[in-house]
Amino acid sequence: MALLAALWKLKPILSESSEIQEILKSDFGDDFYWGVATAAYQIEGASDIDGKGESVWDRFTSKKSHIKDQSNGKIAIDFYNRYESDLKLLKNLNFKNFRFSFSWSRILPDGTGKINEKGIDFYNRMIDTCLELGIEPWTVLYHWDLPQVLEDKGGWTNREIINWFSEYTDLCTRRFGDRIRHWMVLNEPASFTTLGYLSGIHAPDRTGIHKFLASVHHANLCQSEGGRIIRRNVKNSHIGTALSCSYTEPHKMTGSYQRAAQRLDVVLNRLFIEPSLGMGYPVQHLPVLEKLERYIQPQDIENLKFDFDFIGIQNYFRVVAKPSIIPYIRANRVKPQDSAEVTAMGWEVSPEGIYEIIKQFAKYPIKEIIVTENGAAFPDQLINQRIHDQQRIDFYKRYLQNVLKAKNEGINVTGYFAWTFIDNFEWAEGFRTRYGIVYNDFETQERTIKDSGYWFRDFLK
Ligand code: GAL
Repeated sequence: MALLAALWKLKPILSESSEIQEILKSDFGDDFYWGVATAAYQIEGASDIDGKGESVWDRFTSKKSHIKDQSNGKIAIDFYNRYESDLKLLKNLNFKNFRFSFSWSRILPDGTGKINEKGIDFYNRMIDTCLELGIEPWTVLYHWDLPQVLEDKGGWTNREIINWFSEYTDLCTRRFGDRIRHWMVLNEPASFTTLGYLSGIHAPDRTGIHKFLASVHHANLCQSEGGRIIRRNVKNSHIGTALSCSYTEPHKMTGSYQRAAQRLDVVLNRLFIEPSLGMGYPVQHLPVLEKLERYIQPQDIENLKFDFDFIGIQNYFRVVAKPSIIPYIRANRVKPQDSAEVTAMGWEVSPEGIYEIIKQFAKYPIKEIIVTENGAAFPDQLINQRIHDQQRIDFYKRYLQNVLKAKNEGINVTGYFAWTFIDNFEWAEGFRTRYGIVYNDFETQERTIKDSGYWFRDFLK
């Protein structure tokens, strides 16, 4: 497992030096969506109040050794109680779009069946507050927090999840579709299937190639089915799905390294976009995918397709690949040089990678690309009520200038969401890694705008 953990968390070797150029909001055009991205388990807290059911992340974090600082999202940043002041703060930073996810177990504590009206009320209040403030809500149906009762029945490995997910999607679109136009079906299916069902370093801590493959296929089917349900239930909808992606290149230009890079490219970038476009699974470049056959039913190939209005791409770093003994994938990432600039996650800062991956995705017949997550964790220090996070400002400038470069070359990139608004619970890292443009004191829940927050405020003015 450590090897796969490494596969995900190590960073590539080449360091990049893209000069920092000044960019202007107007360079991106008037219609460009500027927003911040968040996720229910990482911010809400209130993990067992007002009728919320247990999710796989509640269960996973109850074993302290799963999380590096032994913390959990029971309180997180208490967004459940503080959403009003937080959204006002977001408005003051001049963002017009707020991305959040619904917590499935807050809405359907048993996964299916009985509706928790108090959970629905929370999202109604929060969505209405956004609209009153002139902030457009963007939602993600699934950002990793599956109801534990469904996991007990096999979770994503059980084909029944298509029915469970359809019921949940139908309910959300009926209750919230009158006020939400922008919907994303899944958040990073490649991450939750590999980390949750192959390497077990995330919830629900399951391992094995067949658990992984079954969850991949079922997530793909839910992705397209979710899209169809949104289209049916929400008028004038703008439908996407949010995919993790990392530009992947071979460490050496020889056959075995190039094939290793291709295999990693399949896992990191191709597994959830190509089936939705009717291209099937990229078996040719990752032979273990042949084993998917046992999960594929005849009507599935057709059902995997969905004509998304946009594809959300989420990028943090690029990958430099080498062959390895990791089973099935037989590839790993090359460690970075000591001189490389890395984030607190140990990920190399590689701004040109976002340009390359946007270009790669633009080769697919996709209507619209939105960067639905990009950002960086750095070791922030609160001194005299200020956080001088110049490194994060430079990170944003350099990545944004590469997004702009792709856009200026004619690629239809229509928006950018920073990860993230306020420091929050960063999955297996706990609270150690701070990604916010607003600092959070996790004891007092006091928010302090970082210099990067002020930079965005002025940039977006
Ligand atoms: C993404 C994930 C987010 C956030 C971010 C930073 O993979 O969707 O929830 O954790 O990474 O690491």
